[in-house]
Amino acid sequence: MSAITSKQKTSFVVKGRVGEKYLNGSVSISGAKNAALPALAASILFDDEISYNSIPFIDDIQVFMEILSSLGADIKKTNDGASVSFGGKMPKSVIDPSAMCALRGSIILTGPLLARTGRVVFSSPMGCPIGKRPIDFFIDGFKSFGADITIKENGGIEYVVTAPKGGLVGTEIFMRHMSVTATETLIFTALLAKGTTVLKNCAIEPEVSHLVEFLNKCGAVITGAGTPTITIEGGSLLKASGKSYTLPADRVEAGSFLMLGILAAENLEITNCNPEHLESLIDTLRRSGANNFEVTKNSFIIKKEDRKKVLPASYPINIQTHEYPGFPTDLQSIIAVYASQLKGRSFIFESIFEDRFRYLDYLKKFGVRFNMINRREIEIDGPTKLNGSVITKVPDLRAGFALITAAAIAEGETVIRDLKHVNRGYEDLEKKLRGIGLDIIRE
Ligand code: EPU
Repeated sequence: MSAITSKQKTSFVVKGRVGEKYLNGSVSISGAKNAALPALAASILFDDEISYNSIPFIDDIQVFMEILSSLGADIKKTNDGASVSFGGKMPKSVIDPSAMCALRGSIILTGPLLARTGRVVFSSPMGCPIGKRPIDFFIDGFKSFGADITIKENGGIEYVVTAPKGGLVGTEIFMRHMSVTATETLIFTALLAKGTTVLKNCAIEPEVSHLVEFLNKCGAVITGAGTPTITIEGGSLLKASGKSYTLPADRVEAGSFLMLGILAAENLEITNCNPEHLESLIDTLRRSGANNFEVTKNSFIIKKEDRKKVLPASYPINIQTHEYPGFPTDLQSIIAVYASQLKGRSFIFESIFEDRFRYLDYLKKFGVRFNMINRREIEIDGPTKLNGSVITKVPDLRAGFALITAAAIAEGETVIRDLKHVNRGYEDLEKKLRGIGLDIIRE
């Protein structure tokens, strides 16, 4: 599996070609990591085997499948997916603390385990260092279903959550912020609670509604997904009855390749994606003067520039990251690199995570000119000719793509070391990049 072999070599060497538009060809977008985690977690709520298509084989999924196996799941890998079954047996209810340390997304298992087994034991999850990432919505949510919570400190923090004697009871929950994984987790919890649950201020990310559509085909009764209020009728275990779930395309990967393509491609097709999920990015790019790409129903096409049609100037951007359909925080670092190539002073405000600008120290090494106004706001001046650099560590998953984008448009060679976070999130990354002409090797 690519996730395992990729671990063996830990640096990228990229030869940039400043100012040239040299990338060509076609790149196909993988299934979305952030859709795969909740979809796999949902298997806990199924009475029978559930099959998945378009699972990206990346380290996060590998770790997640290992956790599922440790809980009792039988997982069989298929060509581009997997099937998962608990064989009618009760899953274990203790999540291995080391797994929770490796993957913040493992928190999504807590809701289904509590609902199915009446108990879940887990520790504080860790993931990309992009902010505090509290779990109060999960804890408060479980309490609201009637669960009892014991918190123990033994090195880390351990939570023991137990359903009341008569089982979880449907409830009404208002979440202070729209949270993707909290919304998904509490939907799962509600599915086996008694009665009706109403979740308010829910995340409306497409990954949520896409999964709910499938759950409803398997016996769930959930209305309102894709809106801030979701209502769930509690019932019994779901049945796939041979149906399989195909993951939606990764909109973050698609948007990342789009920005790389606009900066460095002559002709490039980004296929197997859903541009409808990237309206805020498309709007931002168009406003910045990027007119060398076309949008189809399921692809982006970056065209050879017709000099007569290309706008005489590019314009700085002014964005604020926002829950869907606003500008995705997961594309924030990549658009910072893009902004460094625009004329004038761009402005980026990170509204979701309070510590998601760590990568700027690394972009500085390429020559990117910026001013950090405070922990959430930056200005970037451009255009700047970037120079290759040695990067000792990829600070977080999405910053990994940002650094590669900077390396691709820089002059000379860049070495990017410590690829742990890149391996977590992008399937066959260097293969895809080499396939479109980037001089990148892993060593
Ligand atoms: N929040 C709380 N309390 C909670 C949960 C969240 O205050 O109990 C706050 C967070 O601190 C944040 C806001 O709510 O300020 C929204 O965070 P959210 O919970 O939506 O983030 P998440 O579910 O942990 C998912 C993705 C992230 C992506 C965010 C935002 C998964 C597995 N992760 O995280 O993806 O950045 O939504 O869209 O779906 C990535 O792929 O690199 C990544 C970090």
